[in-house]
Amino acid sequence: MNFDFTEDQLMIQQTAKEFAEAEIATTSMERDLKAEFPSDIIKKLGELGFLGMMVPPEFGGAGLDTISYVLAMIEISKADASVGVIMSVNNSLVCFGLEKYGSDYIKEKYLIPLAKGEKLGAFALSEPEAGSDATKQKTTADKDGDCYVLNGMKNWITNGHSADCFLVMATTDKEKGHHGISTILVEKGTPGFAHGKKEDKLGIRSSDTSSLTFENCRVPVKNLIWEEGKGFNFAMNTLNGGRIGIASQAIGIAEASFEAALKYSKERKAFGSHISSFQAIQFKLSDMAVKIDAAKALTFRAAAMKDAGKKYFKEAAMAKLYSSKIAVECALDAIQIHGGYGYVREYMVERYLRDAKITEIYEGTSEIQKMVIARALLDEN
Ligand code: CAA
Repeated sequence: MNFDFTEDQLMIQQTAKEFAEAEIATTSMERDLKAEFPSDIIKKLGELGFLGMMVPPEFGGAGLDTISYVLAMIEISKADASVGVIMSVNNSLVCFGLEKYGSDYIKEKYLIPLAKGEKLGAFALSEPEAGSDATKQKTTADKDGDCYVLNGMKNWITNGHSADCFLVMATTDKEKGHHGISTILVEKGTPGFAHGKKEDKLGIRSSDTSSLTFENCRVPVKNLIWEEGKGFNFAMNTLNGGRIGIASQAIGIAEASFEAALKYSKERKAFGSHISSFQAIQFKLSDMAVKIDAAKALTFRAAAMKDAGKKYFKEAAMAKLYSSKIAVECALDAIQIHGGYGYVREYMVERYLRDAKITEIYEGTSEIQKMVIARALLDEN
């Protein structure tokens, strides 16, 4: 495996780092407190090409590889994991899915503005009774003339309030189980489509999450993505890439935790010396650094396999499983190193813990990642 990044990849990382430090990190605490959506930042991210990073330029994207995307996601999430998830959903779940499976009409009308960041996307799979057990979709889409008529409810939808376009998984043929699920693109403002209140969340508070309802919501048949009955496969295939995005988000949080802990340990004195001179602190810092590097190795491997056109779903699940676990551990260690200061808002590390927890839950819980990994292992051997 090649561990060297190209000049282009390093340039993307540097651009993301500079933007994150200058325009995202400085206001992250305030947005977290107010649970305020980062509209201006998202607009600028779009202008920089960070919302359609892997989409070819002819469809409005930056035409970059997944490695560059991971590098950028880490830097952005390090500054604010809320911005990270908004960026991840638009890139990995929405743009990737439309580029791979959308018709020419869909690409022209929706992918181009989504990849340019002129519009924002959301991915609507989860339902009140279909979270981890995602095949049990109750939302229906019945064909009526040249429209699908959608009825049902989705929940936990990232960008639920702010998105312009929603990729909705719905059952078009109940008899066929998960092979009767289809993906339909619904535009904000379509009659019969509404979103619920913003969820009041523990972490990633400045990204918005809400339920969606569909009541006799008529959507043109030409908004079908891929083919009827392919919606579950669409969701799984896009989520594989999504899991690389969330692994990167988790690494960003872990790095932010590590850097805060390292800095604090060199400033804080106790028993006559800096606490960084104590083995108890040094061991924690060492553990954090090793975990972060291991998470990066797993995540870059999955990204490189995706870029090489190889099957990467097991590797993406491994990257997400491990990176999300160590993000929580690193945030906890950072709090411990900060002592009482780690427990109050002023030092930010308490937010890292709140933000880290969700990475073990969304885009497939850690338990689901273990299922995916185990099934692949059993199939392979
Ligand atoms: N990649 C590609 N295909 C996959 C897959 C993967 N990782 N996992 C399953 N599949 C395919 C299978 O190959 C199978 O396809 P066919 O029937 O066409 O051959 C189909 O999916 C069904 O698979 P199973 O028979 O294994 O179904 P199951 O019910 O036993 O397990 C599951 C499915 C893996 C548990 C799946 O339901 C799952 O991944 N659940 C988690 C859902 C999830 O990640 N939700 C995240 C919500 S989106 C979100 O969080 C976004 C956000 O806003 C931040």
